[in-house]
Amino acid sequence: MNPSRIASLKLRQILDSRGRPTVEADVILHDGSLGRASVPSGASTGKYEVRELRDGDAESYESYGVQSVVATALQACEGQMQGVDALDQTAVDATLRWIDGTPDLGRVGANPILALSLATARAAAAHVRQPLHVYLRSLVPGVAPSMPMPMTNILSGGAHAGGGMDFQDFLAMPVGATTYSQALEWIARVRSAAARLMAQEGRVTLLADEGGLSPGFESAEQALTLMVRAIEAARLRPGHDMAITIDVAASQLYVEEQRCYHLRRAGRELTSDAMMSYVFDLCGKYPIVSVEDPFDQDDWEAWQSFTRKLGDRSLQLVGDDFFATNAQRLASGIERQVANAVLIKVNQNGTLSGTLDVMALARKAGYATVVSARSGETEDSFIADLAVATGAGQIKIGSVRNSERQSKYNQLLRIEEEAGLTFAAFMHKRR
Ligand code: PGA
Ligand code: ZN
Repeated sequence: MNPSRIASLKLRQILDSRGRPTVEADVILHDGSLGRASVPSGASTGKYEVRELRDGDAESYESYGVQSVVATALQACEGQMQGVDALDQTAVDATLRWIDGTPDLGRVGANPILALSLATARAAAAHVRQPLHVYLRSLVPGVAPSMPMPMTNILSGGAHAGGGMDFQDFLAMPVGATTYSQALEWIARVRSAAARLMAQEGRVTLLADEGGLSPGFESAEQALTLMVRAIEAARLRPGHDMAITIDVAASQLYVEEQRCYHLRRAGRELTSDAMMSYVFDLCGKYPIVSVEDPFDQDDWEAWQSFTRKLGDRSLQLVGDDFFATNAQRLASGIERQVANAVLIKVNQNGTLSGTLDVMALARKAGYATVVSARSGETEDSFIADLAVATGAGQIKIGSVRNSERQSKYNQLLRIEEEAGLTFAAFMHKRR
C-alpha cells in the first residue's frame, strides 16, 4: 500500500475555549504518519457559512454536544477515505464533499469534515517530514510566503461580550512595526495600557470571549478615544506606529423588518445611509485603517455605495459574514466592485482546498486577505501556518490573552525564527 494513503480516521468530541464541545480529528496514514486538527466555532455566525452540526441533546452540554455527530461522520467517511492519498489535498476535499453531498455540508456536518480536511494536511506534512507551513506552500505554488500583520482585539462588544457595546471589535494594527515580533510586543503594550486606563477609571477589566476587554461603552466614539489613549500611553504614535481597525459585525445589529441597524447601547436606530455616514465619519475622526462588516450580509446596496463613497480614500473594507469565505459570494463581490478585502475563516468554507480557492480568487482580483480565528477556538494553531504559507498578509486571532489565542501568536514566533520570512507591510487598497 502506498505509504501516503489514508489508513484510518478518528473523530472525537473535545472542548473549545467557551467550554463547548467541538470536533477533533486524527488521520493516520499507512506509514504511521499522524495528523491531528480541531475546529473552531463562531458566535456571530453568518447565514452563508457552511453548516456546523450539533447533537441537540439538551441533557448533554446544553444541546451543544457533538458525540453523535462525530459517530455518524466517522461511519460515513472512514470507508470512503481509506486509500485516498493524503498528498492530494484536492482529492481529499473533493471526496469529503462528495460524501456529504450537500453544498453547505449539512448532512455529515461541516465541523467533522473540516477537522478531517485539516488533519489530513497535517498527516501529509508529517509524511514528508516538513513543518506544516512549508508543506502548505506546496499547495499554493507561485505564492510568496510571508509573516502576517496581526490585527488584534483590544476592546470587545457584541455577541462576544454580552452585547456590552454595539460594535463587536476594536482592534490594534501595528502598521509601523518592521517585524512580526516587534508587532506583537507593541500590541501587548497597547493591550496592557488599555487595561490600566480602564482600571484607573474604575471600569471592570474582565475578559470577553476572545480575551479582549469589555468596557461596555455606550458609543463607538468612547471606545475609539480609549484606543487612541492606550496607544499613546504605550508610547506609540496613533496611525503611524499603531492604527485602529474595527469589526462592526453589523448583521447582528440589523433588524430586517424595520430595515435599520439598532445600536441598542447608543440608543440609536440607523438606516443603511445613516450607518454609512456614521462609519465614514468615524474613519475620518480616528486613525482607522480597516473596517469589517459595517453592513448586514444581505445589504448589498449599502456595501456597494460605501465602496464607491470611499473613492480614493485608502481604507480597507473587509467582508466577513458578507463573503462567508465562499467563492461564489466573493466572485459576485468582485464583479460588483464591492469591498476590497475578505476575511478568511476555514470553518465558514468547510475544507482546506475550498479556502485556498477563495484566497486565490481574492489574490487575483487584488483583494486583501485576513486569515481569521473564531470567537470559540481550540489550541490548534493551523491558521498561523496557513496565513504564512499563503502570504495572506494579515491575521486576526483575537486578543493576546488566553492560550487558544497564544497558540497561534506563539506559533508565528516559532515560524519567524525558523524561516526568516519577510513581514507583510499593511497595504490598504485604493479603488
Ligand atoms: P465569530 O466572530 O467567530 O463569533 O463569528 C468573529 C468575527 O466576527 O470576526
Ligand atoms: Zn467579523
